Amino acid sequence: MNLKDEYIKYFVSKGHKQIPSAPVVPENDPSVLFNTAGMQPLIPYLMGEEHPYGKRLVDYQKCIRTNDLDSIGDKTHHTFFEMLGNWSLGDYFKEESIAYSMEFLTKVLKIPIQRLAVTVFKGNDMVGRDKVSAEAWKREGISEDRIAYLGEENNWWPNMENFGPCGSDTEIFYFNSKDEVPEKFDPEDDRWVEIWNNVFMEYNHNQDGTFTELPKKNVDTGMGYERVVAILEGTDDNYKSSVWKNIINTIERVSNRSYEGNEESMRIIADHIRTSVFISADTSQIKPSNTDQGYILRRLIRRSIRHAKKLGIDINSDWEREIAISIMDEYSKYYSELVENRDVVLDVLRNEKLKFNKTLEKGLREFEKIMKNLDEEVLDKDDAFRLYDTFGFPIELTVELAGERGRSVDIKGFKEKFKAHQELSRTQSKGKFKGGLAGGGSEEIKYHTATHLLNAALKIVVDKNVHQKGSNITSERMRFDFSCDHKLSEEEKKRVEDIVNGWINEGLEVTKTEMKKEEALKSGAECMFIEKYPDIVTVYSIGDVSKELCGGPHVKNTNELGHFRIIKEESSSTGVRRIKAVLE
Ligand code: SER
Repeated sequence: MNLKDEYIKYFVSKGHKQIPSAPVVPENDPSVLFNTAGMQPLIPYLMGEEHPYGKRLVDYQKCIRTNDLDSIGDKTHHTFFEMLGNWSLGDYFKEESIAYSMEFLTKVLKIPIQRLAVTVFKGNDMVGRDKVSAEAWKREGISEDRIAYLGEENNWWPNMENFGPCGSDTEIFYFNSKDEVPEKFDPEDDRWVEIWNNVFMEYNHNQDGTFTELPKKNVDTGMGYERVVAILEGTDDNYKSSVWKNIINTIERVSNRSYEGNEESMRIIADHIRTSVFISADTSQIKPSNTDQGYILRRLIRRSIRHAKKLGIDINSDWEREIAISIMDEYSKYYSELVENRDVVLDVLRNEKLKFNKTLEKGLREFEKIMKNLDEEVLDKDDAFRLYDTFGFPIELTVELAGERGRSVDIKGFKEKFKAHQELSRTQSKGKFKGGLAGGGSEEIKYHTATHLLNAALKIVVDKNVHQKGSNITSERMRFDFSCDHKLSEEEKKRVEDIVNGWINEGLEVTKTEMKKEEALKSGAECMFIEKYPDIVTVYSIGDVSKELCGGPHVKNTNELGHFRIIKEESSSTGVRRIKAVLE
């Protein structure tokens, strides 16, 4: 029996349509790096949009959680996992959802009801105790002793802080031990393991902190695939279940060692390479880098290389290729991208391996040297940053290495150093994005504000539909490209100058606010490439003459700018004119 297939089959038989797993890197949600739950790609539909497949959905969704990367290596944690889920979008609600869960667990999976228990929401200031769910459980044969009523810390999903669709939930637990099953359920007793979460999504937590009812009452359930397979197969080590069998066998073969005695490193390699395979096969085509998803990918690959070395694997051999192939073979049936992007995946792993192998040895030697000369407990930020910057050691790797020797790392100091370094490169790359805002010096900042004024003045003088097409700033001048079909007359240029200088002389305040992208657009804020901005954007306003989506920086008041003068107006390309101007 295959849990994934059975799950889909069962819910399809109950009128659910199977939807494909969404990419693991969210397509329309820049606020998170990865999908962390099955419901994430469904948020618009939980909020009320009609889903093209209807009101009853079922899937297995690729998820990645990186919040407890440090726990990888134990028996139960994974960075990548599959979440089985079924949804009702304004169709059935608590009672039917509970009945489906019970039937699936006890009839399809044949789990004895004796081994099951549940938690139910006990209520808070906003919503009362969830009696409907409790009654439904009892009707299904769960005794009162096996129901624990818990508060919003446990039975509200995702939690009271996150914005978006949410609601109370009821969680199903399985008694995963050879001990006799106690009559009374104690959720604190960790022999009881959570296997399924049924969320009743009725509310939206708005950005202003209020909760409002959603247009429809939805059900969102999630079951961790790996965990339940291990339970069904009677092992307390997930990596010993059939999900991992071939992958661990491959690692045993390439390392010529057995799993027993080498569990931690083998689990880390298995987990990290599997996650790396799925990230690099994703439609987003993420490559290892020093930011965002690329950095996670880099860390995962580099950490597995370090553990491969620990296992005595020749890290220059094709070990990672063999492991990746065994992973892709295992999952190809369910994920066609693993077939289509097989070579991409193998290249990503190989290239990152070659890159890191070059500095790993030297870096490890450097690390040992640092350790030898280290008088205190803590490895300092400069050494940690050097290991990162020169030898490509992700900070987590340095922390892990230091930890193995009973030492710690000044992570806070490292992060400050790292941030300063990042801000520098961010300013530089933002410059590229804006068309070359080269630096954050005081002259450049002035020109940056003047650019917004020029943009606004051109809309008045030339046409309200004039838009920025490019910009380049040095400490000596600004260059601004804009859509316009004619050469500006002397008169037009003069008017533009007068308007900009008028605003400068008025001493207009420059203010910065953060708002939702849609709100910013509705309010008429100007922006160049809307799709490139995250959901929450920074908007700079200058008095009430200009409003633009922009990362800054800007002066505080236009009176800091001096006198604005156009020195040249010329064609840039078809339909685009270019102005060069100075502040004197
Ligand atoms: N969203 C809930 C969870 O992730 C149920 O799918 O647990």
